[in-house]
Amino acid sequence: MKGKNIIVGISGGIAAYKTPQFVRLLKKRGANVRVALTEGGSRFVSELSLATVSGEPVYRSIFPATDTRNTDFTSHISLGEWADAFVIAPATAHTLAKLAAGLCDDMLSTCFITLRPNKPVLIFPAMDGQMFLSPSVQRNIKTLADQGCHIINPESGELASGQCGLGRMPEPESILTALEYALQTTSQRSVLEGKLVVITAGPTREKIDGVRFISNYSSGKMGFALARAAVQRGANVTLITGPVHLATPAGIERIDVESAAEMHAAARSFFVDCDIFIGAAAVADYRPALSFDGKMKKDAEEMTITLIKNPDIIADFGKQKKHRQLAVGFALETESGLGFAQQKLIDKNLDLIAFNIFNRKTSGFEVDTNVLTLIARDGFTIELPLLTKDDAAGKLLDAIEKLLPQKQL
Ligand code: C5P
Repeated sequence: MKGKNIIVGISGGIAAYKTPQFVRLLKKRGANVRVALTEGGSRFVSELSLATVSGEPVYRSIFPATDTRNTDFTSHISLGEWADAFVIAPATAHTLAKLAAGLCDDMLSTCFITLRPNKPVLIFPAMDGQMFLSPSVQRNIKTLADQGCHIINPESGELASGQCGLGRMPEPESILTALEYALQTTSQRSVLEGKLVVITAGPTREKIDGVRFISNYSSGKMGFALARAAVQRGANVTLITGPVHLATPAGIERIDVESAAEMHAAARSFFVDCDIFIGAAAVADYRPALSFDGKMKKDAEEMTITLIKNPDIIADFGKQKKHRQLAVGFALETESGLGFAQQKLIDKNLDLIAFNIFNRKTSGFEVDTNVLTLIARDGFTIELPLLTKDDAAGKLLDAIEKLLPQKQL
C-alpha cells in the first residue's frame, strides 16, 4: 500500500462508523488517503474525525469555496486523476443508484466518473437485507459490476435494526485485504493489452420456416464473461453473438448474428487481423437443407427435415491461422470425454481447449458456474474447480496469457 493514492468514499449508512478505522489502517500501511464524504455520510461520521485520521481536508461539495487561499477549483477532476483506487464503504442504495445512473452532484459521485480507466473501484454495499435484495438495488449493483467495479457483498450478522441477516459491511481489515488484492491484480500489465480478441458466444438459430428454428440452450454467459475479462485486461474485444438476453459489456464491439452461416461470415472478416480467436458459441452443427419464408402447414402426419452440416467456424480459423495467432475452443461433452476434447484440439488445430462435462446444475448451458479443464496443445492441463463463469473466464485468460508470448516471439 506504500505510496498508493486511495480515495475513500463514505455514504450515509450506520456502517460508516467503521470507515475511519479503515482510513487509519491505510495510513499505517503508508497509503495517501483522501476522503469523499456525502451529505448522508456526514450524519454518521464527522468531517473532523476523517480529516484527522487521513491528515487531509475532507472532500464534500463539487463547488469549491471561493476564499482567496483556495486555488484548486477543479479538485473533482484532479482527485480522480490522482487516485490509484477508489473504495466506497459503505455504499448506500441511494449512492449505488447515483453511480449506476452516472449522476454526479457531490464529490463522491463525481470522482467515480473522473477516475482514470483501469483503476480499481471497490464498492461495499451495506444496508438492511431486504433493501439489499430489492430489484432496484440488485439492478444497480449488476450495472456497476458489468462496468468492472468490484462489488463486495455485505455479510450476514446483526444489523442496526436489531434484526439478524444480510447487510453488514465487512470489517476494516477485510476491506483492506480486498483492496490489496484488487491493486495487486490490476498493477500487473497483461500481455493482452492492445491485442484483438474475437469471441463467438451464444447459440445459433437455424431457420426451418419464417416462425420456426432449430437451436440449443446456450445462454451466452461464458462468452460474455470472457469478453468482460478480456476488456478488463486491456484487449480490444469483438463479440460475435447469437441471440441472447445479455447486456453488452462496456467497451466491446458487439456483432449480433442469428445463424451459423452469419456467424461464420462475421467471424471470417477478423481471421486475418485477430490475435486470439475464442469459440465460446454453441454453433448448431446442422441446418435445414431447405427453409421456407412463410409458415409451413401442419397437414402431414409425418414430416422429414433434411439437415445439412454447418461450417465449423473455429476449425476454419484453425486451418488458416498464422503462427502468431491463438485459437481457443470449448468442448462440451455429455460424458467424461477428456479424450474427445483432446481429439478436437488436434482436429481443429487449436492451441487451447476448455473441456467441460455437461451438467445442468453446475456447468454448461444457462447456469452461472462452470467446471473447466484447460488443455494446451503444447503442454499443460489445468483442472479448474467449480467457479463462477466470471472467475472461470479469468483463469482461461491467465492460460492464454501464458501461451501468447511463445506464439508472438
Ligand atoms: O465439435 P464441437 O461442436 O464440440 O466443438 C466445439 C468448439 O467448436 C467450440 O469452441 C465451438 O464454438 C466451435 N464450433 C464452431 N463452429 C461449429 C461448431 C463448433 O466454431 N460449427
